Amino acid sequence: MGLVTLLLLSLFASLCNAEISAQVGINYGQLGNNLPSPSKSVELIKTLKAKRVKIYDANPEILKALKGSDLQVSIMVPNQLISNISTNQTLADQWVRTNVVPFYPETMIRYILVGNEILSLSDTTTWFSLVPAMRRIKSSVKACGLHKIKIGTPLAMDVLESSFPPSNGTFRSDISVSVMKPMLQFLNRTKSFFFLDVYPFFPWSSDPTNIKLDYALLSRTNTTYTDPGTGLTYTNLFDQMLDSVVFAMKRLGYPNIRLFIAETGWPNGGDIDQIGANIYNAATYNRNVIKKITARPAVGTPARPGSVLPAFIFSLYNENQKPGPGTERHFGLLYPNGLNVYQMDLSGETPESEYKPLPAPRNNEPYKGKIWCVAARGVNWTELAGALTYACGQGNGTCNPIQPGKECYKPDSLIWHASFAFSSYWSQFRKLGGSCYFNGLAVQTAKNPSYGSCKFPSVTL
Ligand SMILES: *[C@@H]1O[C@H](CO)[C@@H](O)[C@H](O)[C@H]1NC(C)=O
Ligand SMILES: *[C@@H]1O[C@H](CO)[C@@H](O)[C@H](O)[C@H]1NC(C)=O
Ligand SMILES: *[C@@H]1O[C@H](CO)[C@@H](O)[C@H](O)[C@H]1NC(C)=O
Ligand SMILES: *[C@@H]1O[C@H](CO)[C@@H](O)[C@H](O)[C@H]1NC(C)=O
Ligand SMILES: *[C@@H]1O[C@H](CO)[C@@H](O)[C@H](O)[C@H]1NC(C)=O
Ligand SMILES: *[C@@H]1O[C@H](CO)[C@@H](O)[C@H](O)[C@H]1NC(C)=O
Ligand SMILES: *[C@@H]1O[C@H](CO)[C@@H](O)[C@H](O)[C@H]1NC(C)=O
Repeated sequence: MGLVTLLLLSLFASLCNAEISAQVGINYGQLGNNLPSPSKSVELIKTLKAKRVKIYDANPEILKALKGSDLQVSIMVPNQLISNISTNQTLADQWVRTNVVPFYPETMIRYILVGNEILSLSDTTTWFSLVPAMRRIKSSVKACGLHKIKIGTPLAMDVLESSFPPSNGTFRSDISVSVMKPMLQFLNRTKSFFFLDVYPFFPWSSDPTNIKLDYALLSRTNTTYTDPGTGLTYTNLFDQMLDSVVFAMKRLGYPNIRLFIAETGWPNGGDIDQIGANIYNAATYNRNVIKKITARPAVGTPARPGSVLPAFIFSLYNENQKPGPGTERHFGLLYPNGLNVYQMDLSGETPESEYKPLPAPRNNEPYKGKIWCVAARGVNWTELAGALTYACGQGNGTCNPIQPGKECYKPDSLIWHASFAFSSYWSQFRKLGGSCYFNGLAVQTAKNPSYGSCKFPSVTL
C-alpha cells in the first residue's frame, strides 16, 4: 500500500472516530431526599472527571447548572408523555421548545432519550407508542435545526428472550417484529445508537456457582468461554452480554447499529440476602469497565473488535428513595454528602497502583442462616402504622401473636408490633417475591429480635 493511501486511510479512520469518542460519563439520578444541589452536583461530576452526564428528565436547574461546561448531556422524555407525544407533533415540538431550545447550545445537549426501559414495563400500551414518539421527537429536533442531537431510548437486557450463547441472542417475540424492527430501522436511518443498560451483577448474583465472580468483574482471569456458534472467545460477562444484543440486532437485519452503554455499574452495598454487593467489587468492576472502554486503540467486543463503546456509569449518588432491594439504593460513586464511596477517575487515567487499598469483600459467598425483617430506625410513625396494617392484612394469621393477650403483644409499641408484622409477612411471602422494604420502613437483620416466649418468624437461607 502506498504512503498516500495509508495516510488517507488513517485520516478516514480518525474522521470516523471523531464521530463518537470512548469517553465515560455518569448517570445523575435524583431519587433521594438528601442529595446536593444541581450546581454542587455538577462540580462533583467534574471532580470525577466525567465527560458526559445523563439525567432522567430535563430538570431546568440541572440544565442551567451545566451551561458553559464541556460535559456532553443526555436528557430524557418522561415515560408518562410518550403515549401522547406519539400521536401529537405539536406536543413533541412543545416539549423540545420548552426543554431543549432554552439551554442549547450553551448546555451541550447531545442525546434525547425517549423514556426509560419502556419495554421492561408491564404497561404494554406504551410499548407501541415508543417508536412513533421517537420519530416525532426527531422531527421536532430537526425542525429546530438541532443537528447535533441524537434520539434513542435506553433498553434493559430483558428485551432479549435468549442471550446465551451470545450468537443465540434473540429479541423477545412479543416485541421483536412490532417494536424492535421499526426501532432498529429508525436508529439505523438516523445514525443513532442502541442505548443499553447492562449489569453483569444481575446474571452473576442469580447464578454465582456457575458464573465466576472474576468473569463478571472483568478482572484478569483464566476463565474463558467460547461460543460454539461463532468460535468467538469471551474473557468476561460484559462482552458476552453486549454481543448477545449485537447478534439479536443482526438477526433482524441490522448488523451495524452502534451500542451506547446507557447504564452499567455494580452495587457497593445491599441487603443481607444479596450476594457480592460491596465496595471492593463495585470499585473493581467500575475501574475495570472504564479501563476497557477508555483503552486506545479501542478494544470493542469479540463480535465487534476495535469498536468504540461510549458509556455512562450508574450512578453519581447512592439514592435513598429508589424502591426495590437494598442494592438499588447503593449504586453510587458518591454518598449523598458528596464524599467518595471509593476513589474513582472516570477518565481512566489514574493507574490502579495509585488507588488506596479497598476494604476486603465480606459477602462474596451467599449468606447462610436466618434473617428477620424489622422496622427501620427513625422512620415516620404514621407511615409505619400504615405499613403494619398492610402487612397484617396479608397472608394467614400474620399478626395473631401481636393481638392483646398473645405472646408477642408486649411490649405494646408500634416499633415492636411493626417489626413482628414485617418478619411474619416476609417469612410467608419472600418465596413469592415479597420484599423486606415497605418503602424504606423495614430493614433486614441477622440478629434474632425474639424475646421471651415471643418467637419472630424468620427467613432461612
Ligand atoms: C394526554 O392527553 C390526554 C388527552 O388530551 C390528556 O387528558 C392527558 O392528561 C394527557 N396525558 C399527559 C400525561 O399529559
Ligand atoms: C396536542 O398537544 C397540544 C399541546 O399540548 C394540545 O394543545 C392539543 O390539544 C393536542 N392535540 C390533541 C389532538 O390531543
Ligand atoms: C437459543 O434461544 C432459544 C430461544 O430463542 C432457546 O429456546 C434455546 O434454548 C437457546 N439455545 C441455547 C443453546 O441456549
Ligand atoms: C442501515 O443504514 C445504512 C447506512 O445508512 C444503509 O446503507 C443500510 O441499508 C441500512 N440498513 C438497513 C437494513 O436498512
Ligand atoms: C492462570 O493459570 C495459570 C496456569 O494454570 C496459573 O499459574 C495462574 O495463577 C492463573 N491465573 C489466574 C489469575 O487465575
Ligand atoms: C408522616 O407521614 C405522613 C403521611 O405521609 C405525613 O402527613 C406527615 O407529615 C409525616 N410526618 C412527619 C413528621 O414527617
Ligand atoms: C391460608 O390457609 C388456608 C387454609 O389453611 C389455605 O388454604 C390458604 O392457601 C392459605 N393462604 C395463604 C395465602 O397462605
